[in-house]
Amino acid sequence: MTCAPTPKELSFQPLANGNPQSYFDFSRDGLFPIALPVSKKTVFIARDAETVRLIMTDPRFSLARLDPEEDSVTGTGYQSPDGLLRLDVPRIRNIRRRITPLFSERGIAPWRAEVEKIADVLLGELPHARQPHDLNKQYFEPFVVRAVALSAGITLDESSTLYDFSNRVLVRVEAPQDEARIGTAWQELYDYSSDLVNEKLNNPDDGLVSKISAELKKACFDDHEIVAAMGTVLAGFYTPYGILSVSAVELFQHPDVVQACKKDPTLWGRATDELMRRKAHFNFFLPRVAIEDVALGREEIFAGQVLLPSLHAAVTDPDLFASPGVYSAHRARARCNIVFGAGPHFCLGAALSRQWLQVSLERLFTTLPGLRLAGSYRDLEWQAGSISMPKQVLVIWD
Ligand code: HEM
Repeated sequence: MTCAPTPKELSFQPLANGNPQSYFDFSRDGLFPIALPVSKKTVFIARDAETVRLIMTDPRFSLARLDPEEDSVTGTGYQSPDGLLRLDVPRIRNIRRRITPLFSERGIAPWRAEVEKIADVLLGELPHARQPHDLNKQYFEPFVVRAVALSAGITLDESSTLYDFSNRVLVRVEAPQDEARIGTAWQELYDYSSDLVNEKLNNPDDGLVSKISAELKKACFDDHEIVAAMGTVLAGFYTPYGILSVSAVELFQHPDVVQACKKDPTLWGRATDELMRRKAHFNFFLPRVAIEDVALGREEIFAGQVLLPSLHAAVTDPDLFASPGVYSAHRARARCNIVFGAGPHFCLGAALSRQWLQVSLERLFTTLPGLRLAGSYRDLEWQAGSISMPKQVLVIWD
């Protein structure tokens, strides 16, 4: 009798160049077995765009029926069963049709001028004399905290508190004690959100927290459901931080792109989409479990099998993006939506994130003359996570 070899354990550690482990790369070889660090359960990584999209959009694959104890890869698995990322169709559709319009491009457009001011103020505060500066701590992080405060309609202090919560719940799961720690953080986030929701229902304003609360209340969702949905949104708000950091270091590698965008600022949109496609993306989506047997091309998936769709593979699939490793802002398929997911859980914050990325990068690269990395790109240190981001982005300018 031959025994199947024990699969490797999933690692969040990036390679020296900041790319994720090679099992997240595109492959035509079918599903790749990997063991989850805590439960040691074998799950299968999907590594081509078609399979990834199918898993994300086909109701035969479920988020709600994952077992949080066995199948959690990140802290999102430990959110309340009423949290958005644990709801299946039709419950998620029922909530989403009320709140998705609040996040539309048109809905968020009026904030753009204020977001530009946020960037300008922060850049104005960087003292020229004390270079180098770490853009992560001195620009990207405070930019996101302030941009969230603006769009959510909360104070800077509230936004800083929520940012801390976000950092405690959206983390990788690597050790048995993580579940209790992350569960506690979610509960604290819900307690905090509950007060915020009540305050906004009593004193409504134009911010997203107020509008989401009012929409869900009007549609007769109970308080628990409103707070659970709000918790997912509040935690998600801060994810652009890592994406911004990676986008910036990639732009330093492409001065020609910066020049082109400076000449024609309408190109910033395409440029940021391509930065996200090529490198500034999460490595994987959340796992899904098959709720019945499914034939996936040559593969047979059995009910109960858990799949981990590789986002990195989907955006570097050569059938979709010719020469995927090459940065090209002139691709026919310029807008790479798959970086924000697909199907019923498509990211609510996609338009906001695009706005923040475009504005913050444009202001950064057009305000500080001769801006460059203080060291070499090769020497950047990358930190582990569901997105690999540089630990520091030290820069100097003229
Ligand atoms: C560049 C920044 C961002 C990226 C790359 C990103 C990416 C994603 C992805 C890939 C998903 C789907 C996960 C899955 O189905 O497995 C998702 C869901 C979600 N995102 Fe984002 N996100 C970003 C920013 C934001 C922001 C600013 C918000 C704030 C509103 C947000 C809120 C959410 C929520 C609430 C969900 C769950 C939606 C649902 O289950 O219906 N995200 N995001």
